[in-house]
Amino acid sequence: MQVWGGHQLQGHVRISGAKNAALVIMAGALLCSGDCRIRNVPLLADVERMSQVLSALGIILKRHGDTGEILDINASEILTSKAPYELVTQLRASFFAIGPILARLGIAQMPLPGGCAIGARPVDLHVRGLQAMGAEVQIEHGICNAYVPGRNGRLQGAKIYLDSPSVGATETLMMAATLADGETIIENAAREPEVVDLANFCNAMGAEIHGAGTSTITIVGVSQLHSIDYTIIPDRIETGTFLVAGAITRSEFTLSPVAPDHLFPVIAKMREMGITIIEEGADCLRILRAEKLKATDIETLPYPGFPTDMQAPFMALLALAEGDSLINESVFENRLRHASELNRLGADIRVKGNTAFVRGVPILSGAPVIGTDLRASAALVLAGLAAEGQTTIQGLHHLDRGYDRFDLKLQQLGAKIFRVAAPSPDVELLTNNSNSPVSVSH
Ligand code: EPZ
Repeated sequence: MQVWGGHQLQGHVRISGAKNAALVIMAGALLCSGDCRIRNVPLLADVERMSQVLSALGIILKRHGDTGEILDINASEILTSKAPYELVTQLRASFFAIGPILARLGIAQMPLPGGCAIGARPVDLHVRGLQAMGAEVQIEHGICNAYVPGRNGRLQGAKIYLDSPSVGATETLMMAATLADGETIIENAAREPEVVDLANFCNAMGAEIHGAGTSTITIVGVSQLHSIDYTIIPDRIETGTFLVAGAITRSEFTLSPVAPDHLFPVIAKMREMGITIIEEGADCLRILRAEKLKATDIETLPYPGFPTDMQAPFMALLALAEGDSLINESVFENRLRHASELNRLGADIRVKGNTAFVRGVPILSGAPVIGTDLRASAALVLAGLAAEGQTTIQGLHHLDRGYDRFDLKLQQLGAKIFRVAAPSPDVELLTNNSNSPVSVSH
């Protein structure tokens, strides 16, 4: 990605459906033995990967609509309980499908997703919850083998306490409990809007899930679910990222559709920084030109705390604020790697353990940088929009995993941002201001 900074943005940006709702709702469609039509599905590499995992299980998927935002899924037949290693290890969220597969078939063989750039990402809470529901689980050769002995292979309702409010574990167990025999209670459950969207999707198919969005979720198992036509919520992290794009470039523009409530901690922190954000109607936000950016402190926490997925974009913003800010990343153990890349652009950030000390600087200046994960790559694009001169960003494959047509949407707002296709498949050429090529690895 090649970004020329210092240009104000204007107009309107359309926010896509939520990645972290779409992925788990696609897995949730495995619970239904009929047709599911899912609308507002974002165009993302991760959604493509999830489609490949489901197809490998024998599920029929078809995209519709002008921009392919309608997805039909038919899971009347799950032909195998074995998910392909090479696909699951590339997409962590596909592991959550172990819940619905086990609930439908009484057996599931799911490769462990393994760690990633931001942390070890264990699945012990998922496994312990399934064991509490009567599953036998063995992990061998990197595969999580689960089956339900006796009881015609049907999981049993159970009371489950999660050591930490894991989003994935809550979703996996909520899906598994939907077709289980009896009542399941998940205590210390995650409260993220994507968990609620999954529960609403399942309930629309005939499930009995109560309390999603609170720390205690109760699921009364049913014998089967029926077909549905469901629309996914807007992406709160994409919304937050564009709000930061507005603040960091001192711009005014509108964003919709959005769910302002889902962004409460983010908007609250931006207002603390002196940024004005107005709700215009039920699903539209307007960000006004920020005169100045005041420093503030951030601690990432499970919802409704400040989202860890907004931490990197906020670090880019705080790098240009007046004063010192403290960022404490408490959800993932290795999610501050973008700090050193922001320092290449002239930021003044020191990292100690899981805390970053950000001393605001008056300006950033363009340079070649590398995105190490999805949100880190977005933060570098945002910093590039504010930096003097050009910034070249490697690691686009991270960005495309979670942002739907990010560069095109920024261009529509007036940003000078370009992506140049590479001559050879695995190398993408990026140009810097002298148009001489800079090589990029996928
Ligand atoms: C979801 O990941 C999101 N991904 C992440 O978004 C998001 O950062 C995260 O929730 C937190 O909000 C999807 O929904 C696909 P967790 P998930 O289980 O479910 C530990 C993005 O940028 N843990 O809530 O994997 C874990 O290691 C991505 O869009 C265990 O110890 O997150 C982490 O430190 C990145 N054992 C913490 O809990 C477990 O069994 C939170 O993880 C599970 C998790």
